[in-house]
Amino acid sequence: MTHSFPPRGFQFTESDTYTFMEELGKGGHGNVFKIKNRSGRYYACKVFDSNILENESQYRKYLQESQIGINIYHEHLVSFHKSVLIRESAAADATRHPAIIMDYVNGTDLANFKKIYEFRFEKPFPRNYAALLLAKACSGLEVLHRLNIQHGDIKPGNVLISETGYPKLTDYGIATFIGDTSISNELSGTIRYLAPEQIIRVKDGGVSVDLRADIYSLGIVALELTAGLPGAMYSNPGRVLDFIVNGNDELLKHLDNVDLAPDLKFVIRSCLNRRMERRPSKVRELQNVLLHTIYGSHKGLTLEDIGDEMRRLMP
Ligand SMILES: Nc1ncnc2c1ncn2[C@@H]1O[C@H](COP(=O)(O)OP(=O)(O)OP(=O)(O)O)[C@@H](O)[C@H]1O
Ligand SMILES: [Mg+2]
Repeated sequence: MTHSFPPRGFQFTESDTYTFMEELGKGGHGNVFKIKNRSGRYYACKVFDSNILENESQYRKYLQESQIGINIYHEHLVSFHKSVLIRESAAADATRHPAIIMDYVNGTDLANFKKIYEFRFEKPFPRNYAALLLAKACSGLEVLHRLNIQHGDIKPGNVLISETGYPKLTDYGIATFIGDTSISNELSGTIRYLAPEQIIRVKDGGVSVDLRADIYSLGIVALELTAGLPGAMYSNPGRVLDFIVNGNDELLKHLDNVDLAPDLKFVIRSCLNRRMERRPSKVRELQNVLLHTIYGSHKGLTLEDIGDEMRRLMP
């Protein structure tokens, strides 16, 4: 992955209507920049590795898949605006990178919010925040699933939270065109949310992966945010991969021992079933339980309250 190019040198090949502002971060799939259009509106631009352009079938897949999010609008989804090619400099032969221009979310992501909260207050991230944010993000995922779009990379880092506290799911469909490299990208450190079949597909080929992989990932996220995951899920990438493929019994034993309402344990247990046909078929099954078991006793809490807390922590 090319991470070293200077963002200032970037040129939009098709038009020059955007200006690069700053780098927002790096992930397993590329670098994300804040950009501005001529009217002063901000967007986020996710720039991928140039080698996608070298392999024709992967590039075709990119062209197809990167269009997926372009006509989807939902309050809990980040909208994609267009896919573009950008080059590293003005030179005609400069290296080109595929990129996606999407909504800019002025806030942070759920992984970072949780980390900062726990660091600052020296206590676990509140379950009622997690339940409300996750349940709302589930309605974004439900829309994708209705359109038969697999997200492919459900994790707290892909739940962006706006300054008003609105969770917005992002990066849907991207893992599909990036292909195996994203899944085996051990540097991203986020493989712990992958379903066993996503890993087995990479290692051995041929196992089909569908919307139910998202349901598994959602189960992992729900468990992590409400009661925590086993320590093995935070060890080195090889051990994590092995745990996902071979440690299902241990994962379920961990689930049995955590302090969670029986209804929630039950639905998370079925999300984490190795056999995908035994997982809930609808996102809503987990969403309803999150709302009833955890959020139900904190009904006064609003997303705006969470947004206020987030802004206090990250001014
Ligand atoms: N649309 C956006 N608006 C504002 N910030 C964003 C946006 N998309 C990503 N970011 C921020 O940029 C950083 C990098 O995001 P990126 O998606 O590359 O990493 P990731 O989610 O950790 O990994 P992955 O590549 O697997 O999605 C994150 O801190 C994220 O919060
Ligand atoms: Mg991301």
